[in-house]
Amino acid sequence: MLAELLGLALEAGRRAGALLRDGRPDDLAVARTKSSPIDVVTEMDIAAEKLITGFLAEHRPEDGFLGEEGAASPGTSGVRWVIDPLDGTVNYLYGLPTWAVSIAAERDGETLVGVVEAPMRNETYRAVLGGGAYADTAVGERRLAVRPAPPMDQALISTGFAYVQTRRAHQADVAQRMIPVLRDIRRGGSAAIDLCDVAAGRLDGYYERGLNPWDLAAGDLIAREAGALTGGRPGERPSGELTIAAPPGVFKPLQQLLDELGAWHD
Ligand code: IPD
Ligand code: CA
Ligand code: CA
Repeated sequence: MLAELLGLALEAGRRAGALLRDGRPDDLAVARTKSSPIDVVTEMDIAAEKLITGFLAEHRPEDGFLGEEGAASPGTSGVRWVIDPLDGTVNYLYGLPTWAVSIAAERDGETLVGVVEAPMRNETYRAVLGGGAYADTAVGERRLAVRPAPPMDQALISTGFAYVQTRRAHQADVAQRMIPVLRDIRRGGSAAIDLCDVAAGRLDGYYERGLNPWDLAAGDLIAREAGALTGGRPGERPSGELTIAAPPGVFKPLQQLLDELGAWHD
C-alpha cells in the first residue's frame, strides 16, 4: 500500500505543480484573506487543492482529507491525506520561486508518505516511513541526508513568521535574540521547503511557531527520514505550538535555546 500511496502523492504533486507553474496568471490577485489581511489565498491555491483532492479521491474514494483550502472529510479507509496545495503563497503571489505543493498520507496520526513538489527548483522531495528520503532532480535521484552538526555559532537556521501581528512581534523578538548566537537566520517563505532543506543538508536547522498540519506533515517525515530530529518543546512532537527540525547535535541546543527564549508562546 505504501508504494501505491507514494505513487499517487507523486502524481498529484506533479500535476498540481505543473498547474501552478504553467497556469499562474500574470495579473494574479488575492482571492480572499484568512487570519489577517496578509494571510492571502489566490485562485491558484484553490484550483490546486481541487486538482489534488479530485485526483486522489478518484483513485482512493474511501480516504479522508485535510486540506488548507477547506478539504475536510474523515473517510472510512483509515488513511487521510494532509494537503497544502501551495505552501509559500506570498512568494508565489510576488513571483518568487520558493513555493511548493505538500502532500502527506497518514494513518492513525502517523505519516506514512510525504511528497513536496518544488517546480521552480525542478525538485521533488519524497519519503516513505522507514524507507529513507530522496530528491528527484534534473540529474536524477539523490538520497537525502542532513549535514554534520556544526557548533551553534556556525549554524544556519531558518524560521518563519505568522500572519497575525501580535505573534509576529514576539517571533521577531525571539529571532533578534537568536541572530547573535548563530551563523545567521533565513526566512525562505515555505515551511515545507525549509523542512526539505534541512533534509537535503542545505540548512542546519529550522524552527517555527504557528504551523498547521498541512504545512509540516510531508516535510516532517522527509526531514526525519533524512536523519533529522523533529519535535516541539522538550518531549513534544512538532505542532502548531512549536516545530523544530535539525540534525542530531543541533536539535537539542536549538530546542533548549528556543525554550529559554519562550519561542512557544505569543
Ligand atoms: C506559510 C509558509 C510560511 C510560514 C507560514 C505558513 P502558506 O504557508 O509555510 O513559510 O512561515 O507559517 O503559513 O500560507 O504559504 O501556505
Ligand atoms: Ca502553508
Ligand atoms: Ca498554503
